[in-house]
Amino acid sequence: MRAEQLATAVDTDPRYSGIARLREETRFYDAVIDEIDGRRIRIGEHWLTDWASCNYLGFDLEPQIIGAVEEQLRRWGTHPSWSRMLGNPRLYPVIEERLAALLGAPDTLVLPTITQIHLSVIPALAGQGTILIDSRAHKTIWDGCVFARAQGATLTRFRTLDELADRLAEATTSPILVCMDGVNSMTGNIPDVRRYLDLCRAHGAVLYIDDAHGFGVIGARSEDETSPYGTMGNSIIRYCGESYDDVVLVGGFSKAYSSLLAFLALPTVLKNRLKSAAAPYLYSGPSPTASLATVLAGFDVNAERGDKLRADLHRMSMRVLNHVRGLGVFTPNTDDTPIIELPIALDRDLVDVSELLWERGLFVTLAPYPGVPRDQVGFRVQVTAANTDEQIDELNAVIGELAAAGVFQEAREGSAS
Ligand SMILES: Cc1ncc(COP(=O)(O)O)c(C=O)c1O
Repeated sequence: MRAEQLATAVDTDPRYSGIARLREETRFYDAVIDEIDGRRIRIGEHWLTDWASCNYLGFDLEPQIIGAVEEQLRRWGTHPSWSRMLGNPRLYPVIEERLAALLGAPDTLVLPTITQIHLSVIPALAGQGTILIDSRAHKTIWDGCVFARAQGATLTRFRTLDELADRLAEATTSPILVCMDGVNSMTGNIPDVRRYLDLCRAHGAVLYIDDAHGFGVIGARSEDETSPYGTMGNSIIRYCGESYDDVVLVGGFSKAYSSLLAFLALPTVLKNRLKSAAAPYLYSGPSPTASLATVLAGFDVNAERGDKLRADLHRMSMRVLNHVRGLGVFTPNTDDTPIIELPIALDRDLVDVSELLWERGLFVTLAPYPGVPRDQVGFRVQVTAANTDEQIDELNAVIGELAAAGVFQEAREGSAS
């Protein structure tokens, strides 16, 4: 039967087999959540603490934001249904203007998801030119680059700043796009954007940077900041004190703002070009009204209380990170963001570790090979402002227990651990 043939092709493809095994053998794939209570979730009979949420500011549970939805639903209906090219509820220009003001960017364009943005915008911007991609960039950026290559762009990876300098010097076609993550979705680390931008500017390249995890968490540094995450949560360019010259910043509301919407910060001339070249603007269904409403209410809460929430997020993240580092356990996170990856020892099996985590009541993101290199296989926890100190105590106790049982890798020379 043809379906079986297709399924076998997926099962035997090394790109998918690691994930397929976890899907069959662990309880952390395709979980059906029956109920939530803050950051506690019920799956069947089991209550677990949710460490897989990326709702960093806790806006998914914020009464002021939840309460803002109904009024907009009554005004606009549940879903606009026009593609953005055809028609835009007034909410769109309001969001784009408020976002540009928050970011301090020349202009913004919002589309439903970052995945859609990468697949449509990278090919449109790169044309027949050159794309240089950081080897640690998110899979969705990679997919956009591969799609651009199929349309005539040249695609090359780089691993370090030195390699980037070499590749930039060798580039023979323009425009040149350098694609990378902002706050890295696996390590939680913050790249030194200034150094990447200096190189880009020296070679006439544009930095295309995806800060899905930084937006809402890190922002402009200030003398009266409430935490080292900076202020306003206005993302990596402002955090690094840089300008938007030669930058296309991509970010999303689906993490810190708990809403289905994503954005580009870019010059107006590029925005207008994308309005005739990016398929999700021209042809896709838009975000639901509820998400537009929660983005706008999220801006209000961010302005009123965001820095206080970020101070708490930083404090709780540090409680976990200090505990991990104190135990001599390796985590790649050296920049103190709320993304804490814990690779397991090379002789441990991720399926066994996942069973232990389930028994101890932790719901986490598993990181299998080949999604990550073999020596980074493990799991990731994210701290959010909606976690409680009791939950952090619980998490730290389990990490301590697993560390004593030799589940983790030891801190490496030169790492923060
Ligand atoms: C760095 C990065 N980019 C893009 C995405 C996908 O974002 P979206 O859900 O808006 O497509 C993610 C999601 O985890 C991510 O971590």
